[in-house]
Amino acid sequence: MAALKQYSYAEVAKHNTPADLWMVIDDKVYDVTKFQNEHPGGEEVLIEMAGKDATNEFNDVGHSTDAKAQMKQFVVGEIIEAERKKNVSKQDSDSPSSSSGSWFGALKAKLFG
Ligand code: HEM
Repeated sequence: MAALKQYSYAEVAKHNTPADLWMVIDDKVYDVTKFQNEHPGGEEVLIEMAGKDATNEFNDVGHSTDAKAQMKQFVVGEIIEAERKKNVSKQDSDSPSSSSGSWFGALKAKLFG
Protein backbone atom coordinates (compact mmCIF):
# COMPACT_ATOMS: atom_id res chain seq x y z
CA MET A 1 0.00 0.00 0.00
CA ALA A 2 1.37 3.34 -0.97
CA ALA A 3 1.73 5.76 1.90
CA LEU A 4 -0.64 8.68 1.77
CA LYS A 5 0.72 12.13 1.23
CA GLN A 6 0.98 14.07 4.49
CA TYR A 7 -0.64 17.49 4.90
CA SER A 8 -0.95 19.95 7.74
CA TYR A 9 -4.21 21.79 8.43
CA ALA A 10 -2.49 24.96 7.22
CA GLU A 11 -1.91 23.36 3.84
CA VAL A 12 -5.43 22.03 3.56
CA ALA A 13 -6.74 25.50 4.42
CA LYS A 14 -5.25 26.89 1.20
CA HIS A 15 -7.68 24.80 -0.84
CA ASN A 16 -10.75 26.64 0.32
CA THR A 17 -12.52 27.84 -2.81
CA PRO A 18 -15.09 26.16 -5.09
CA ALA A 19 -12.40 25.91 -7.77
CA ASP A 20 -10.03 24.12 -5.40
CA LEU A 21 -11.97 22.48 -2.63
CA TRP A 22 -10.39 20.20 -0.04
CA MET A 23 -11.64 19.06 3.32
CA VAL A 24 -10.65 16.77 6.16
CA ILE A 25 -12.80 13.90 7.41
CA ASP A 26 -11.40 11.55 10.04
CA ASP A 27 -7.84 12.73 9.47
CA LYS A 28 -8.02 12.01 5.75
CA VAL A 29 -7.72 14.80 3.20
CA TYR A 30 -10.31 14.85 0.40
CA ASP A 31 -10.29 16.81 -2.83
CA VAL A 32 -13.98 17.21 -3.62
CA THR A 33 -13.57 19.89 -6.30
CA LYS A 34 -15.02 17.63 -9.00
CA PHE A 35 -17.62 16.09 -6.70
CA GLN A 36 -19.30 19.34 -5.68
CA ASN A 37 -21.93 19.31 -8.39
CA GLU A 38 -22.71 15.65 -7.83
CA HIS A 39 -23.07 15.78 -4.07
CA PRO A 40 -26.63 14.77 -3.16
CA GLY A 41 -26.43 17.12 -0.19
CA GLY A 42 -25.58 20.04 -2.45
CA GLU A 43 -22.44 21.99 -3.17
CA GLU A 44 -23.07 24.70 -0.59
CA VAL A 45 -22.42 22.50 2.42
CA LEU A 46 -19.15 21.36 0.89
CA ILE A 47 -18.07 24.90 0.05
CA GLU A 48 -18.87 25.92 3.59
CA MET A 49 -16.41 23.31 4.89
CA ALA A 50 -13.75 24.07 2.27
CA GLY A 51 -10.24 23.88 3.68
CA LYS A 52 -11.53 22.71 7.05
CA ASP A 53 -12.21 19.65 9.16
CA ALA A 54 -15.70 18.43 8.25
CA THR A 55 -15.68 15.23 10.32
CA ASN A 56 -18.48 16.28 12.66
CA GLU A 57 -20.62 17.69 9.86
CA PHE A 58 -20.12 14.54 7.79
CA ASN A 59 -21.02 12.27 10.69
CA ASP A 60 -23.99 14.39 11.76
CA VAL A 61 -25.67 13.74 8.43
CA GLY A 62 -25.39 9.99 8.95
CA HIS A 63 -23.95 9.35 5.51
CA SER A 64 -24.68 5.89 4.09
CA THR A 65 -22.10 3.18 3.53
CA ASP A 66 -22.45 4.02 -0.15
CA ALA A 67 -21.37 7.56 0.58
CA LYS A 68 -18.42 6.27 2.60
CA ALA A 69 -17.37 3.97 -0.21
CA GLN A 70 -17.72 6.80 -2.68
CA MET A 71 -15.56 9.22 -0.73
CA LYS A 72 -12.53 6.94 -0.97
CA GLN A 73 -11.98 8.00 -4.54
CA PHE A 74 -11.41 11.59 -3.43
CA VAL A 75 -8.64 10.95 -0.90
CA VAL A 76 -5.49 12.87 -1.72
CA GLY A 77 -3.64 12.39 1.56
CA GLU A 78 -3.86 12.45 5.32
CA ILE A 79 -3.18 14.86 8.14
CA ILE A 80 0.34 14.80 9.53
CA GLU A 81 0.62 12.69 12.64
CA ALA A 82 1.17 15.62 14.99
CA GLU A 83 -2.13 17.23 13.96
CA ARG A 84 -4.34 14.15 13.79
CA LYS A 85 -7.40 14.08 16.00
CA LYS A 86 -7.52 10.34 16.30
CA ASN A 87 -4.21 8.71 16.93
CA VAL A 88 -5.03 5.21 15.92
CA SER A 89 -1.56 4.39 14.69
CA LYS A 90 1.39 3.01 16.57
CA GLN A 91 2.16 6.17 18.48
CA ASP A 92 1.44 5.63 22.14
CA SER A 93 -0.46 8.09 24.27
CA ASP A 94 2.49 8.59 26.60
CA SER A 95 4.79 9.60 23.80
CA PRO A 96 6.08 13.02 24.78
CA SER A 97 6.51 14.63 21.38
CA SER A 98 3.23 15.03 19.53
CA SER A 99 1.09 16.92 21.97
CA SER A 100 3.67 18.78 24.00
CA GLY A 101 2.92 22.45 24.22
CA SER A 102 -0.82 21.97 23.82
CA TRP A 103 -3.19 22.28 26.74
CA PHE A 104 -3.99 18.63 26.29
CA GLY A 105 -0.34 17.68 26.58
CA ALA A 106 -0.06 19.76 29.73
CA LEU A 107 -3.18 18.20 31.19
CA LYS A 108 -1.99 14.70 30.40
CA ALA A 109 1.34 15.47 32.00
CA LYS A 110 -0.48 16.61 35.15
CA LEU A 111 -2.79 13.64 35.30
CA PHE A 112 -0.50 10.89 34.22
CA GLY A 113 2.95 12.33 34.60
C1 HEM B 1 -16.23 13.32 0.43
C2 HEM B 1 -17.21 13.79 1.15
C3 HEM B 1 -18.67 13.47 0.96
C4 HEM B 1 -19.29 12.51 0.20
C5 HEM B 1 -18.65 11.45 -0.70
C6 HEM B 1 -20.72 12.67 0.39
C7 HEM B 1 -21.68 11.89 -0.23
C8 HEM B 1 -23.04 11.97 0.01
C9 HEM B 1 -24.03 11.06 -0.51
C10 HEM B 1 -23.74 9.85 -1.39
C11 HEM B 1 -25.23 11.47 -0.06
C12 HEM B 1 -26.61 10.80 -0.30
C13 HEM B 1 -27.13 10.15 0.97
C14 HEM B 1 -26.21 9.05 1.46
O1 HEM B 1 -25.85 8.16 0.67
O2 HEM B 1 -25.82 9.10 2.65
C15 HEM B 1 -25.00 12.65 0.73
C16 HEM B 1 -26.00 13.38 1.37
C17 HEM B 1 -25.79 14.49 2.15
N1 HEM B 1 -24.57 15.06 2.45
FE1 HEM B 1 -22.77 14.40 1.83
N2 HEM B 1 -20.95 13.72 1.24
C18 HEM B 1 -19.74 14.22 1.61
C19 HEM B 1 -19.52 15.27 2.48
C20 HEM B 1 -20.48 15.99 3.12
C21 HEM B 1 -20.27 17.06 4.07
C22 HEM B 1 -18.90 17.54 4.51
C23 HEM B 1 -21.48 17.52 4.45
C24 HEM B 1 -21.86 18.64 5.40
C25 HEM B 1 -21.11 19.65 5.66
C26 HEM B 1 -22.48 16.76 3.74
C27 HEM B 1 -23.84 16.94 3.84
C28 HEM B 1 -24.81 16.14 3.27
C29 HEM B 1 -26.23 16.31 3.46
C30 HEM B 1 -26.90 17.40 4.30
C31 HEM B 1 -26.84 15.26 2.79
C32 HEM B 1 -28.33 14.94 2.77
C33 HEM B 1 -29.02 15.36 1.55
C34 HEM B 1 -30.48 14.97 1.64
O3 HEM B 1 -30.78 13.85 2.12
O4 HEM B 1 -31.29 15.76 1.21
N3 HEM B 1 -21.84 15.83 2.94
N4 HEM B 1 -23.67 12.95 0.76
